[in-house]
Amino acid sequence: MNLSTLLKCSFLAIIGFIMVAAGYQNLDGYWDNPSAQSNHDWTKLEKNMRPEACAQCHETQFNAWKSSQHSKAYSPGLIGQFPGMGHGQGNDCLRCHAPLSEQLYNGEKDMFNSLATLRKQPKGFNPDADLDSQEAKLPLRHAGVTCAVCHVRNGNRFGPPRKGSQTLGHLNTGTHGGFTALKQFEQSGFCAECHQFPQSYAINGKPLENTVFEWQQSRFPKKGKEEKQCQGCHMPDRKHSFKGIHDKSFTRQGLDIQVINKHGLAQLKITSKNIGHAFPTYVTPKITIQAQALNNQQKVLKTWHWEIVREVFYGNGWQEKQDTRLKPDESRIYIANDAPSNTQNIKFTISVVPDNFYKGVYRSLLSDDLQADAKVLIERALNTANENDYILFSDTVSLR
Ligand code: HEC
Ligand code: HEC
Ligand code: HEC
Ligand code: HEC
Ligand code: HEC
Repeated sequence: MNLSTLLKCSFLAIIGFIMVAAGYQNLDGYWDNPSAQSNHDWTKLEKNMRPEACAQCHETQFNAWKSSQHSKAYSPGLIGQFPGMGHGQGNDCLRCHAPLSEQLYNGEKDMFNSLATLRKQPKGFNPDADLDSQEAKLPLRHAGVTCAVCHVRNGNRFGPPRKGSQTLGHLNTGTHGGFTALKQFEQSGFCAECHQFPQSYAINGKPLENTVFEWQQSRFPKKGKEEKQCQGCHMPDRKHSFKGIHDKSFTRQGLDIQVINKHGLAQLKITSKNIGHAFPTYVTPKITIQAQALNNQQKVLKTWHWEIVREVFYGNGWQEKQDTRLKPDESRIYIANDAPSNTQNIKFTISVVPDNFYKGVYRSLLSDDLQADAKVLIERALNTANENDYILFSDTVSLR
């Protein structure tokens, strides 16, 4: 072997070593059969994959995450559907809702036991439970999209570069063997695994989940002061709250809303000014806009209705009924035309039904014969979904 070959070989060996040590350079393979289980010679606490365990040292992230939808992803509305599907298809759903190999079902019995467990423990995953309590011993799947789903593979921690630092690769910081800093954690691509379907799943040209593609078409990926990855809006300053359409004030600050009297016509103008994808991005929420003509006694003389929604239905394959969502930076004007002549005021109200699509699914499931545990869980899911509705905006404009 001559010197240059030798050098090349050791160079490749070194590169190879770095690749193995850092792992998942481009997150390749990160989501293939992910497992968090640790075989390291560490303390019990460092090996514990429960979110309550991470909270002992990462309290800030835990406190924000525990009220996010990610912590509620192993939900009654999800698993209540599984008896009708079987555990194999159930595991396909868990690919996004609780994807670690230690969260998946081993078999049909495992799945049915899990339904019975959630029925008995209405709170499911309880973030306020003591680490040693019985509730904190519920199987890890109850914590849904938990810390370890995003941050741990075979015990090893992966995260963004330290705040204010650009250093990538493995950092030996002592606890749990240090961690590997990957810049992908700061980019939209990280969220794509669960928030973007492939184009082959398209209905009327658009997959049911098309969030990352919609973002790519917006002004937000452009480098510079205005650049916003998903994290820039949903994890501001690395906060783990993941707020979205279920949060009224978060949704409100994404929109500019005005009601005016223009030449004697009441109109509402809504602009998507700070949303990095369609408003709303999924087929599941529905926004309704209502205008009411009121006389000087506050009596309703006439009502107008509009909807902002992407509506799909199943019949001879999936079909799209309408798509009236607002694209980023798009404005739309709703006019209360032909108001009765004795109208004093027009009142506009914008309501949000975050789980509109699922409410339909739950109602239709409840109209069939359901397995006993599933029935209780789906009823619970329907109640929660109803409680999630809210009024986003309401204002009155005078026509006098
Ligand atoms: C005993 C304390 C302790 C426990 C328990 C613990 N960590 Fe850590 N973790 C640390 C320390 C210390 C660091 C290094 C912070 C630094 O130096 O920047 C760290 C770093 C990290 C980082 C990298 C942060 C970054 O800047 O990218 C991640 C991600 C992480 N931990 C995730 C977890 C998860 C997930 C759990 C639970 C499964 C967990 N940790 C449990 C102490 C702990
Ligand atoms: C590609 C990732 C992905 C897969 C696979 C997936 N989901 Fe979801 N699911 C989501 C996301 C993201 C949301 C939240 C956005 C929304 O409301 O659509 C969600 C929300 C839900 C909700 C409403 C919120 C809740 O947890 O109660 C239900 C119910 C649900 N999914 C059921 C299912 C079922 C059943 C399957 C399997 C047939 C499935 N999901 C597969 C990503 C996924
Ligand atoms: C859905 C994926 C996801 C989940 C779940 C999640 N994280 Fe993170 N975490 C991220 C991303 C992405 C970042 C980097 C955000 C950024 O750079 O803007 C991050 C950053 C961090 C950091 C570095 C924070 C800093 O200020 O430097 C720590 C520590 C951490 N997460 C711990 C946790 C813990 C503990 C939990 C559970 C309570 C958790 N994460 C749950 C995706 C997640
Ligand atoms: C410029 C800020 C901004 C960016 C960038 C952004 N979002 Fe959002 N997102 C919002 C706002 C505001 C809402 C609430 C209104 C809504 O639902 O559209 C929201 C809602 C959501 C929802 C709730 C479900 C729904 O149907 O709307 C999900 C899921 C979501 N975003 C995921 C993402 C992902 C994934 C990315 C990156 C590809 C991303 N967002 C980028 C601001 C942003
Ligand atoms: C392992 C899969 C997974 C990953 C990775 C993931 N999510 Fe999610 N996300 C989900 C699921 C599942 C839900 C729905 C939870 C539920 O309600 O059941 C969800 C819900 C959300 C919501 C909805 C909030 C609302 O009000 O409806 C937002 C916002 C969100 N995710 C943002 C992000 C961002 C930003 C990232 C990347 C940093 C990310 N997610 C990464 C699976 C994931």
